[in-house]
Amino acid sequence: MNDHELVIQARGLSKRFGQLTAVDRLDLGVRRAEVFGFLGPNGSGKSTTIRMLCGLLLPSAGEIEVLGCRIPRDAEALKRRIGYMTQRFSLYEDLSVLENLEFLATVQGLGKAAARQRIAELLERYWLADRRQQMAGTLSGGQKQRLALAGAVLHKPDLLLLDEPTSAVDPQSRREFWDSLFELADAGTTLLVSTHYMDEAERCTRLGILDAGRLVADGSPRELLDALPGHPLLIDCAQPRQAQRALQGSTAVLAMAQIGASLRVLVASADARERIEDALRAAGIAARIEDTQPNLEDVFVSVTRQPVPAAP
Ligand SMILES: Nc1ncnc2c1ncn2[C@@H]1O[C@H](COP(=O)(O)OP(=O)(O)O)[C@@H](O)[C@H]1O
Ligand SMILES: [Mg+2]
Repeated sequence: MNDHELVIQARGLSKRFGQLTAVDRLDLGVRRAEVFGFLGPNGSGKSTTIRMLCGLLLPSAGEIEVLGCRIPRDAEALKRRIGYMTQRFSLYEDLSVLENLEFLATVQGLGKAAARQRIAELLERYWLADRRQQMAGTLSGGQKQRLALAGAVLHKPDLLLLDEPTSAVDPQSRREFWDSLFELADAGTTLLVSTHYMDEAERCTRLGILDAGRLVADGSPRELLDALPGHPLLIDCAQPRQAQRALQGSTAVLAMAQIGASLRVLVASADARERIEDALRAAGIAARIEDTQPNLEDVFVSVTRQPVPAAP
């Protein structure tokens, strides 16, 4: 397999649930050893897409090829070559760490000797060796997450699909988890990771942003930043919510989002700053306005026109 070969290829992928179109004619290509970040507001179709790519959910329309397997036709064969992990971690809480991995090894059809060796290796790598006898249900969030990752890579999959794997853990665990993901990518594993954290998105080699089931942006973080229309202003004031209301509907504003105590406003033209100052003054709002560096939050709000997800 050469480096540019597409590991995931989807064309015209759609999923309808009754009247609702959850995924809408999606075209997606993910190359080998890429860390592809899947972004989008809640309900934009990330999980549904990932389930279809894994062969767990039947598409309403479209074509999928993953690792050379046609999905759904070759879904059984694909299962042995991919790993899948969700934010719920899917562990047996009343089995020990070791028993969870032994069980998964059996399901994956690993021989006894191979399983023992692989499990020992993973317990070391994911800092679980001294927890091997502990019930999974009593582990911390970060430990459960590491166990779930160990389980997902037990059979050395070529492709890992991770659906918001860091939603349930603390920031320190999130960083360590991402270090583990890069280790896997360096070893040649392709990763598709959905997230709603912008700091995680920044670490991806490529991003796809979904909005209401449609792929509205696709490129490296750098490319997406370069393609950003306009530039961001940071508005510091006592009432960012009021400021946001005052600027609603202004043609100077492409997109805006409240970030902590300030308001980020994406503007298109050079005279926008003056118009914003006027609008705020007219509303009786005292504010300090400064230019700021574009970031992925700006990209996110400009393509989805949705509130920015939680800051890390
Ligand atoms: N099994 C299902 N039946 C009906 N609607 C569903 C089902 N699964 C997902 N949906 C709907 O499809 C849309 C996309 O959901 P999802 O893929 O979970 O989004 P995301 O993962 O981006 O939050 C949502 O409106 C959701 O309510
Ligand atoms: Mg989801």
